Amino acid sequence: MKAAFITGYGGADKVIVGEQPKPDIPSGHIRIAMKAASVNPIDWKTVKGDLKALFKPPFPLMLGSDGAGIVESVGADVSEFQPGDAVYFRCHKLDTGTFAEYFTLPAELVASKPKNMTFEQAAAMPLVGLTVMQALTEKGGMRAGDKVLIHAGAGGVGTFAIQYAKTCGAYVATTASKKRNDLLTELGADEIIDYHSQNIEDELADYDIVLDTLGESVHDASYKILKPGGVLVTILGIPDNETIADYKANFIVKWVARLYNRKMQKRAAKRKAVYKHHLMYASGAQLAEITGLIEAGKIKAILDSTYPLGQIKAAFERSMTGRAQGKIIIKID
Ligand SMILES: NC(=O)c1ccc[n+]([C@@H]2O[C@H](COP(=O)([O-])OP(=O)(O)OC[C@H]3O[C@@H](n4cnc5c(N)ncnc54)[C@H](OP(=O)(O)O)[C@@H]3O)[C@@H](O)[C@H]2O)c1
Repeated sequence: MKAAFITGYGGADKVIVGEQPKPDIPSGHIRIAMKAASVNPIDWKTVKGDLKALFKPPFPLMLGSDGAGIVESVGADVSEFQPGDAVYFRCHKLDTGTFAEYFTLPAELVASKPKNMTFEQAAAMPLVGLTVMQALTEKGGMRAGDKVLIHAGAGGVGTFAIQYAKTCGAYVATTASKKRNDLLTELGADEIIDYHSQNIEDELADYDIVLDTLGESVHDASYKILKPGGVLVTILGIPDNETIADYKANFIVKWVARLYNRKMQKRAAKRKAVYKHHLMYASGAQLAEITGLIEAGKIKAILDSTYPLGQIKAAFERSMTGRAQGKIIIKID
């Protein structure tokens, strides 16, 4: 089958589209004929070797971690899905390879594709949807009426996060370039801060939660707008000790992670705030909840651009600019 993979770390030019064996179907797994997959910054970070401390995969390393397609066959002990079902999913942790004609994964990580979405739109949802849902509700404890700031509202994570937080009844502020105002207003943002000309600490106060999609550079200002006890949930930086323990990281990495997280927590405590890191995980059950929100018309897909599998390098280069508005999609025929 055709698939995108690397045989060594580097830039987008390291990505090869070539032949790889069609995956087997162990018991409890399903094999999906892929229709579309989304490009996420984690894909090119993986290509660059940024995740080497967490895991050192054997080469060739297959790329891509979420997507949508049609169930081609099911393994023994699978009753939830059958051949012909339209589905979408996020793969298990580092078990990548969705930029391919076929992908196999455990059935419990899969959910039915929203009926009101194309395969390209559905492929845009799993990684960012699960990230947002977990970061805001599990880590942030978001409730109706909370004031929530979402950094980089125009990005893949941000466009989903604004819609999700609004659906949950939050008051939502976001940072973006001015040219994104129309889109972000349409998605439901209550306040939009133009990060080129405004400072969040001059515009916002008494927030319950900040979702950080940009990294440490926005932490100090974010703490200033949080109310006492408010939570900054970051999806950048070094994962917390609990998450690191789940990966095959060596003791030095675990030690560095512990020190880093302790430092970040102390910095937050000085501002009477709480620091939390979130690394998303796959869940078919949570994805089914997202299907419900999408089919109820509460969340829609925002697509930046779509590329055929053969042009995946260009898609990676687009993502690496950090300027995408919504999601970048790879269409697989
Ligand atoms: N921990 C996890 O589980 C997890 C999960 C998903 C993603 N992530 C990480 O989260 C980050 C964001 O992911 P993403 O998919 O949303 O990225 P993305 O789609 O590439 O983000 C691009 C967007 O960021 C905006 N942006 C850039 N700098 C900004 C700034 N200073 N202020 C406000 N907006 C800014 C850009 O708008 P302009 O063009 O207007 O600047 C653009 O629309 C990535 O680093 C990714 O690896 C982590």
